[in-house]
Order: sequence, then C-alpha cells, then structure tokens
Amino acid sequence: MDSTTTPPRRGLRAQLTRTKPVDDIVSEAGRGTGGTGGSMRRSLGLWQLTALSIGASLGTGIFVVLGESVPLAGPAVVVSFVLAGLTALLSALSYAEMAGAVPVAGSSYSYVYATVGEFAGWLCGWCLLLEYGVSVAAVAVGWGQYVSDVVHAVTGLGLPDWTAQPPGDGGVLNLPAALVVAGAVLLLVRGAEESAAVNAVMVVVKVVVLALFCAVAFTAFQAGNLTPFAPLGVAGATAAASRLFFSYIGFDAASTAGEEARDPRRDLPRAIVLSLVVITAVYCLVALAAVGAREWTWFEGVEVALVDILREVTGRTWVGVVFSLGALVSIASVVLTVLYGQTRILFTMARDGLVPGVFGRLDRRGVPVLGTVLVGGAVAVLAALVPLGALADATSIGSLAAFALVNVSVVVLRRARPDLPRTFRVPLFPLTPLLGAAMCVLLALNLGTGTWVAFGAWTLVGAAVYLGYGRRRSRLEGRAGAAGEGGR
Ligand code: ALA
Repeated sequence: MDSTTTPPRRGLRAQLTRTKPVDDIVSEAGRGTGGTGGSMRRSLGLWQLTALSIGASLGTGIFVVLGESVPLAGPAVVVSFVLAGLTALLSALSYAEMAGAVPVAGSSYSYVYATVGEFAGWLCGWCLLLEYGVSVAAVAVGWGQYVSDVVHAVTGLGLPDWTAQPPGDGGVLNLPAALVVAGAVLLLVRGAEESAAVNAVMVVVKVVVLALFCAVAFTAFQAGNLTPFAPLGVAGATAAASRLFFSYIGFDAASTAGEEARDPRRDLPRAIVLSLVVITAVYCLVALAAVGAREWTWFEGVEVALVDILREVTGRTWVGVVFSLGALVSIASVVLTVLYGQTRILFTMARDGLVPGVFGRLDRRGVPVLGTVLVGGAVAVLAALVPLGALADATSIGSLAAFALVNVSVVVLRRARPDLPRTFRVPLFPLTPLLGAAMCVLLALNLGTGTWVAFGAWTLVGAAVYLGYGRRRSRLEGRAGAAGEGGR
C-alpha cells in the first residue's frame, strides 16, 4: 500500500495511546481556538504564581474541614495534616518537574497527554473537573457556612434555611454559595492580571487572620488537651488525613497558569514548592493551636470551630466576627483561583479538540470569557444544590487520581525524553515519584465505598464521552507521527 497517498489506518488502541509531542504543546502555548486572533498575555511573576497556589489552597479545608476532622483523629489531627502534606509534597515535586519541562496551561492533563497517552490524559482532565470544578462548588458551600455565621453573629438571626441550604440539607438553594461563584466570574472575565492582583491581597488577609487565630488560641493552650493523642488510633489519623487532603488541593494551581507566566520554566517549579511549604506550616500551626485550646471531644458537631474557639477564649463576639470576615475573604480567593484553573484546563483541552472549542475561545484581550461564564454557571448551580461533605470527598478522590498520574508521567517523560530541558528535577528519582503515586493510592483507599462507587461511575462516564466525542475530534486524529512511539 502506498503510504504517501493513503492516510494510515488508526485503530482504537493507537487513538488511546497516541501522545501529543511536547514540542507541539509548548509551541501552541497561548493560542486559543477561536478566530479572534487573541492570545494569552504573559503577565504573572513568581509572587503572583505563588499567591495563586496559596490562594487556591488555604480555604474551606482549614476554616471548616479541620473542625470536622478532629473527631476522626483526636489531637493526632496534626499528624494527619503532616501525612496529607507529605503526600502533597511528593506530588508537588513531580508537578514542579513537569511544570518546568512542559510549561503550558493544562497542568497535569497536558503532562499525562504528553507522556502516557491521549486516553489517560483525557481521564486526567476528567479528574481535574473534580479537583477544580467540583471543588470550587464545595469551597463555595463552605463560604456559605461562614456567611450564615457572620449574619447570625451580627443580627442575632440566621439566614433562612431555604436560601442558605441545598435541598438535601433542608433548604431550596444555597444562595451565598452561588453568589460568591458569580462574583469570581465577574472578576475573572476582566483578566488574569487583575484577578491575580485581587488574589494577592486576599492571600495576605488569609495569612493574617490565621496568624490572629494562632496568637489567640495559643494563649489557651493546655498540654492536657493533647492526651490521649490518638484516641482512635492509626486508623483514625489516616482517615482524617484522607479527609484533610482536601485542604492541600490547589497547590498545583500555579501549573494552570503556564501560558500567562512571564518565565514559566523558572517560576512555576519554585511557586509550586514554595506555596506548599507555606501551606503545610500554616496548617500544622493552626491545627496545633486548635487542639491545644480545646479537648478533642469538644469539636463534635461544632460547625465553625475556629470562630467558636476565638469567641470563647477572648469572650468577645466581635473577634469571631472579624475572623469570619477574614475567612470569607480567604475562601473567596480559593473560589477565584480554582475557577481560574478550571477555565485554563478546559481552554487547553479545547485547543486539543477533546472538549468543545467554545472553552478555548479568547477575546481580543486574550481572556477566555465565554468559557469562564459557562464554567462559572455550571459551578454556581452545583454549589447552590449539593451539600459540602459529598462534594469534598469527590474532590479529594479526583485530585488524588490526577496527582498519581503526574507522578507516573515524571517517570515516563524521563525515559522518553531524557534530553528535554528541565529547570527542576525531583530528588531521589525514581523513588520520589513512585512513593508519591503510592501515597496517593493509599489515601484514596481510605475514602468511603460510596465515594469510590461515585468515582467509578464518573470515570466510566468520562470514558464514554471520550469514545463518543474526543477520540474523533482530537486534533491528533489523522495526524501521522502522533502515535505513542513517535509522539514524544
Ligand atoms: N484546598 C482548598 C480548600 O481547602 C480546596 O478550600
């Protein structure tokens, strides 16, 4: 057969395993799918990228989920934070290596597409919908809890349940949660630079309010509150670690800004590692201050534990209100930055043809306005209608799957493209990424059966969407040389 006139026949296997050449990924950076001619602007430096990752991480996890996790682990919740942080750190090192080698907007989706293959890359992007899209909804619900608390503290009356709770929790819709998402959309359509500037201020606010919490709570520290240290044993501490992993999600947000970073190869790895170090230190200090100030059994059933500790220790309601206002700003910054990440991941997937091109359309200023509005609308509906617990666990399992894949892709890329310039290399290769992948699987195994069933169903739907849509629309379809063996 004359291969110069007949395009090569591509079987399903070849479609599933074809990889997108790294050089193509990098050369396409910044370009959208529409006919506007717009391209993204490189406006973000190291501080903005670090603030992006901190902004995306410090939020509902520390302000709300910490309180819910103390009854699972007791004072050992501090160890749970370290365990979850260690898992995050191993994966962060892999993210740092990949972000320095493949500095584009798609984060782990792009890394896996370039290394393991199109189907795995697609599934990774599909998991990122849980890590980013669903987590924004979960975070917005946590924001709603703080709004209710502030309204109650100031007026003595709570928000009526029908406007502040989703249907499963006795309401009609969670209006505050939907509103914070709408606010983030309005800011994001103005552009990345403007959003990053607002986020930087929010990050300072959140670090200050958490420092305020520590300063007050440590005055009530009693060593006796730390015994027994692990009343529910190792099982309790690891169960809490799985739940608390949610609070680390977002450290990878800088990697979604690869096409808007001024010097991505240099700054992305630094921003990812630096933000994780800051986040872990803050979490461990806040957790220690909280369990040192109150017996672990006190946390059972308390909705906003950190606020209640502040109120009780100082005896002043206004201190709690100030903290809650700070928490509102902090959690809003997570909504802003995670929503940003989701729009950039979908932008990249649209450019590859795996999701509709509307998500990749840029306006003349280089902002994916339409995609942002569509993603924001979907997230607002989710936030208004679904309770927090279900959302948080779904987020964690999706993120753990994506992180495990990034760890694997580091190993694959080192073998496939040893020549590729890398501004950061994981230490102790291949032990670090392999251990990182194993820790992700271990934490995921601790999540409940219901979460696993939901995740299985989510993955099957993802596979069906790929088979019915993505594999035929992929930009690699019909392109010779994109198959696994030659594509890298
Ligand atoms: N890590 C983010 C938070 O805790 C999702 O809000």
